[in-house]
Amino acid sequence: MNILERLESIREEAKERISMQKTIHDLHQEKAKYLGKKGVMADFMKMMKDASVEEKKVLGKSSNEVKQAIAQFIEEQKKQIEELAIQQKLESETIDVTLPGQQVETGTKHILNQVVEEIEDLFIGMGYTVEEGPEVENDEYNFEKLNLPKDHPARDMQDTFYITEESLLRTHTSPVQVRTMLAADGKPIKIICPGKVYRRDDDDATHSHQFMQIEGLVIDEITTLADLKGTLLEVARKMFGEDRQIRLRPSYFPFTEPSVEVDVTCSNCDGVGCSMCKGTGWIEILGAGMVHPNVLEACGYDSEKYQGYAFGMGVERIAMLRHGIDDIRHFYTNDIRFLKQFK
Ligand code: PHE
Repeated sequence: MNILERLESIREEAKERISMQKTIHDLHQEKAKYLGKKGVMADFMKMMKDASVEEKKVLGKSSNEVKQAIAQFIEEQKKQIEELAIQQKLESETIDVTLPGQQVETGTKHILNQVVEEIEDLFIGMGYTVEEGPEVENDEYNFEKLNLPKDHPARDMQDTFYITEESLLRTHTSPVQVRTMLAADGKPIKIICPGKVYRRDDDDATHSHQFMQIEGLVIDEITTLADLKGTLLEVARKMFGEDRQIRLRPSYFPFTEPSVEVDVTCSNCDGVGCSMCKGTGWIEILGAGMVHPNVLEACGYDSEKYQGYAFGMGVERIAMLRHGIDDIRHFYTNDIRFLKQFK
């Protein structure tokens, strides 16, 4: 075998061996074997050192071509190995889009929050803004400024949880009204205040030591009981149906004068009388009245110039009436079967 044939057979052998390699690591070893410092091609070059100048020219050119060819084989094989790896990865990771998926259970807004948001929307549509305040209140805002001094008998109905002698869990959202009045600097007000309130109550089917209220307050230079009545009729109809009627019964609250209790015709029997309205045809939904002059004065308003009306409703009660819920405790016990019904 002459020396050029030898070169040719190195090339053929290298081509074959390289094409058989399956990993990059093995390929590197082949590269070292042929092109490395102590590799086949290096040996070959050493052999050439005794050749004549003419021979060297020819052999130098040929051996360079072979080196380049081998480098190229390696490059091509490397590409193949990499492509194969990608393909295998893709195959092992393919997703069968026809397989059934896993159901994700989505929750739902709590029914009380749904009712609150609905009432908020209704009042926002009538030009009210929504105000919130702290649940831990001071005695002054929860009682004193609302015409309920320390020895007032009406405090009994709103006994609560005391943190200190002066701070307590608010018994209604009226202190938010106080805060708003104090901050309004004697200017007109039109707000509703939703939120949690607390009372020392025995828990039963219709009472809970914690519940939700939405109260409203409007203060301006000309506000009358007629405005209040019109507003509440609108609310009753939006909440319980377009042909509901309301009636106002005289009542007592320390912070309003006159005070009224507001009833709506029973939506179950349309006012005829049924078990839901205890045969009366009417259902009580809220308390209201014209803001007491003492409250106006205590909160920075001239009661000769300004009047206002206020109302307060229990969110649980409204939700119970609307959805036929028979026990207030359902709202708080987090039974999925109950909550699910209001999706
Ligand atoms: N603050 C009263 C309560 O919680 C409700 C109410 C508000 C009554 C405004 C009249 C006017 O019992």
